[in-house]
Amino acid sequence: MVFEQINYAANIIHKGGLVAFPTETVYGLGANALDAVAVAKIFALKERPNFDPLIVHIASPDQLEQLTTELNEIVFKLAEHFWPGPLTMVLPKSKMIPDLVTSDLPTVGIRMPDHPMALALIKASGCPIAAPSANKFGQLSPTTAAHVAKQLPGVDFILDGGQTTVGIESTIVSIEDNHCIVLRPGLITAEQLAKALPGVDISFAKKQDKLLSPGLLKSHYSPKKPLYILSVETDSLPEGSGIILHSKESNPRNANQIFFTSEKFELTEVAANLFHALHSMEDDQAISQIYIEPVPSVGLGIAIMDRMKKAAYQYSNKSS
Ligand code: TXA
Ligand code: MG
Repeated sequence: MVFEQINYAANIIHKGGLVAFPTETVYGLGANALDAVAVAKIFALKERPNFDPLIVHIASPDQLEQLTTELNEIVFKLAEHFWPGPLTMVLPKSKMIPDLVTSDLPTVGIRMPDHPMALALIKASGCPIAAPSANKFGQLSPTTAAHVAKQLPGVDFILDGGQTTVGIESTIVSIEDNHCIVLRPGLITAEQLAKALPGVDISFAKKQDKLLSPGLLKSHYSPKKPLYILSVETDSLPEGSGIILHSKESNPRNANQIFFTSEKFELTEVAANLFHALHSMEDDQAISQIYIEPVPSVGLGIAIMDRMKKAAYQYSNKSS
């Protein structure tokens, strides 16, 4: 059954169509990465601006060679430690990849996802698959097939693999000489990268390094209802409020609806359920605004707060 679905989906990719598929992070909206016409359909369906480059997904590190022009020891070590997994490496691109995929950048983001359906799809398609998250540009990321169907009913096919396990998008790094720069935080933390790369300089991209990762805007991943990050002083919420908490012991205030992402503030559970919680509040007719509890900005908390702040940005006072 799953096998038939994979073959059906691979055939669509092969013919230049679009398939949404699960990865361990979020669902991707995939097309043949070597076919510019197919890739153009991704930008159209997502309503994504052309300046925002796509990640190319592979099923084996062996595919790196044809897609890039320069590989070094750092790349091999990262692939060995973290692939398949939620790590995207930005590397010098080969001519094989159409410029549309990379928004005319000389580099390409590449990742080998850790999901059996994603890997089977890439293998059966016989080509690398370009895939952004399968949401409308700027809206909530999808962690279930239903989330994809809600935002992208026009997709040719959705492979349903249930809820994704990581729940937030991959860590993105660029590699220059002896530096590894984290462009987007994710499940794989700077501490884990440092451990895998002894002697290599690890740093986070500065806010002004916009050109390093053009798609990383301040406002992103937003629900269609106002979202506010809770502060400890907030003790009373307006009528019609939903609250997202990360521990059964957190204070629910007078919220009309509560979603717990975790029993006891386990950050991997918080990440896994973050977008799910936001989608369910977005879909709840009785809720007019959403409040969410923050987490400490350390380790995986950095990636969680990155998504939370971007999701709340358009409703915040924009001071930070
Ligand atoms: O976990 C993930 O990474 C998911 C799944 C589907 O693999 N994909 C994903 O793709 O999050 P997307 O398109 O939503 O975010 C990719 C981001 C872009 O917005 C851009 O900032 C960055 O990756 N990116 C891609 N190629 C790049 C490049 N050549 N240089 C710098 N940044 C790049
Ligand atoms: Mg995205």
